[in-house]
Amino acid sequence: MTEPLLDVRDLRVSLRRSGREVSVVDGVSLAIAPGEFVGLVGESGCGKSMTAFGLVNLFPTPAAHLAGGTVTFHGGRRLDGLPPAAMRRIRGAEIGMVFQDPNTYLDPLLPIGHQIAEALREHDFAGDVDARVLELLTLMEIPDPALAVRRFPHELSGGQRQRALIAAALAMNPKLLIADEPTTALDVTIQAAILDLLRRLRRQLGIGVLLITHDLGVIAETCDRVYVMYAGRIVESNTTASLFATPRHPYSQGLIKATLRPDRREALFSIPGQVPSPDSPPAGCRFHPRCPIAIAKCMGQSPELVSYDSGSVACHRAHDPAARTTWSASAA
Ligand SMILES: Nc1ncnc2c1ncn2[C@@H]1O[C@H](COP(=O)(O)OP(=O)(O)OP(=O)(O)O)[C@@H](O)[C@H]1O
Ligand code: SF4
Ligand SMILES: [Mg+2]
Repeated sequence: MTEPLLDVRDLRVSLRRSGREVSVVDGVSLAIAPGEFVGLVGESGCGKSMTAFGLVNLFPTPAAHLAGGTVTFHGGRRLDGLPPAAMRRIRGAEIGMVFQDPNTYLDPLLPIGHQIAEALREHDFAGDVDARVLELLTLMEIPDPALAVRRFPHELSGGQRQRALIAAALAMNPKLLIADEPTTALDVTIQAAILDLLRRLRRQLGIGVLLITHDLGVIAETCDRVYVMYAGRIVESNTTASLFATPRHPYSQGLIKATLRPDRREALFSIPGQVPSPDSPPAGCRFHPRCPIAIAKCMGQSPELVSYDSGSVACHRAHDPAARTTWSASAA
């Protein structure tokens, strides 16, 4: 890879809960090249959002904090440990963020043009703010931008609200966009349109994108590479094409099976069991209570993430040919 835009090593995020430290992100390493579209996928509660918050050191709760690791951004700058004011200058200007529910992040009492302009003023935008707001709404393909600037969030559709939020995130021309479940709250057609928009923006603006989702189908349509996360750890990474062609980790295999459109006679597949609570993760491989091919070693020894070809995988049986067909034999 050319010098990465973002290089994350051994990121750790902890939560203080009932007087003890609970690890919710346990040594995550990932990299994004300039202009690369990278996915982070895993079921609910795996620590995807906490990873995103950890990258920019901004958490939804004061109980959460960075507990270790390094985050190196464009030009070799370390983001971990930056003083809050310096981090604020980077967040929103060089790193844009978009979250699942636009309603939480848009002020219902202010027109959207005003809110995008605020994002520009906050970062001392040097040009004509009004012209930039119009340019952004046009880029987002919001119909009639001159009228849309004066609209309040409730006067826009869900898809248009999400576009407005993306416009605010891109206002300062960031080099990296972190999008955490940006389409989950939207219906399928609007979801497809927003994914199209993200793809086009990436091509047009050359920004790197970290797309966080629980849906591998969304990754398949958009991302160059993907990291699969389970119970606070990365269990597999690869190019999207290779991950879908030869997933090595039983968890990845299960997630892929869950994205396939089932035959109408078949029930929609989901991996049996649940993501463990970070308060008491299983010993050894954290996936072993749900894994149909677990062996004795899996219960006592945590598998290391080992690189191979274009990818990496953390599974004691990753290179065992019999480990590839796990879910077809045991599908729910
Ligand atoms: N605001 C919060 N306060 C306390 N605990 C939290 C908070 N947000 C997340 N957690 C805990 O941190 C762990 C990781 O959660 P996280 O939100 O990162 O998961 P996720 O992979 O983003 O899931 P989802 O797909 O549901 O968004 C979970 O155990 C969750 O309960
Ligand atoms: S290490 Fe063992 S339990 Fe974990 S995914 Fe691989 S085979 Fe399953
Ligand atoms: Mg989340």
